[in-house]
Amino acid sequence: MSPVRALHTAPEYPESQRPSHVQKLERPHAVLCKASALAFLMFDKQDLARAARFWTDFGLSPVSQTHDMLVMRAAGTAPAVLVARRAARSGYTGAAFVVPDDTDFERLQREAGAKTLPSSSIPGGGEGVSLQDPDGKALWLIRRWGQLPAQPLRPPLTEQMNSIGTVRRVNATVRSPIEPAKVGRIGHVVMQTTDFATMANWYMRHLGLIPTDVQYLPDGSPMLTFFRLDLGDTPADHHTVVIAGGIENRYEHSAWEVADLDALGQGQQVLRANGHRHMWGIGRHVLGSQLFDYWYDDDGFEFEHYTDGDVFTAGHETHYVPFSTGSIWAWGDDAPASMFPKKSLSLLWKVLRLLRQGRTSVARLRMIGNEVDMPARPWL
Ligand SMILES: [Fe+2]
Repeated sequence: MSPVRALHTAPEYPESQRPSHVQKLERPHAVLCKASALAFLMFDKQDLARAARFWTDFGLSPVSQTHDMLVMRAAGTAPAVLVARRAARSGYTGAAFVVPDDTDFERLQREAGAKTLPSSSIPGGGEGVSLQDPDGKALWLIRRWGQLPAQPLRPPLTEQMNSIGTVRRVNATVRSPIEPAKVGRIGHVVMQTTDFATMANWYMRHLGLIPTDVQYLPDGSPMLTFFRLDLGDTPADHHTVVIAGGIENRYEHSAWEVADLDALGQGQQVLRANGHRHMWGIGRHVLGSQLFDYWYDDDGFEFEHYTDGDVFTAGHETHYVPFSTGSIWAWGDDAPASMFPKKSLSLLWKVLRLLRQGRTSVARLRMIGNEVDMPARPWL
């Protein structure tokens, strides 16, 4: 591959101008509610003390910790961003979203089988219902959620940055503190599923999500979608939920917003110094445009720091982008091998099971394999 060809930027087509073979990701005609924010993620953890240590080094702070339950917060006003329950085996169990106060919970109970949550089970209080997504993960919807006073965040250095033609910082220096990258808020969660169509439709219907970017395979079928919240004219993050078609039903990663690039970099130093396992970064994503840095927690779950992401209002047209590894990041280190399925007997077994169940096809697996095997940045 010549460098010129490798350096090309992937095409991005507005829905109205997508190539004729590219299938439209149909949105449900009616939605059951429109989420206004991602509230918190829920994990089972074998060792709550170790979980608290990683998340603290990652830039969160504990709100409460008992023998069986750990609640972490970010600097914003949300009373929780992570809730971990002591369990025999660590695992991701689901996500909670904030919904408007007038959300019709009776309708959700009637039409979607939602179950009422006791207020005492919701960190920060309020009223909630619980659902189960098609892959078996919990989805909590919370209205009239509480708030905590925000914690101080240092002002972003971006306002003091000098660039060609713009000098803002005179007789002053850049000395960002070496400290954990203080997380301002939770950004998004990414889930892999063996049934992309069902999961994508279910999350659009239950959260009112809007597809921002749909990635498709060479045959034009959708494979991965970045969804944003429908906040009307209020700008929403490029994605709050990502559904990725794959060979397993599992949590991929979650992402957490920090003040700026210097927070990302200093946070990396703190995590490295404290012996945590780095995954990938620093780099810049293509879809969503965030500057990113990925870490593993002690159980191997991925957590991403990010800053400078795109935001869109509800009227922005859905875009379609060919699926390729090169479309994951614009620059930075090579994507680690652990991002992709390792060729092993266990992978073969999973694939054979999906084929036997009719949940994928050899042609589809070949298309995905071709894209994943293509070196995105051959010079790395
Ligand atoms: Fe991410």
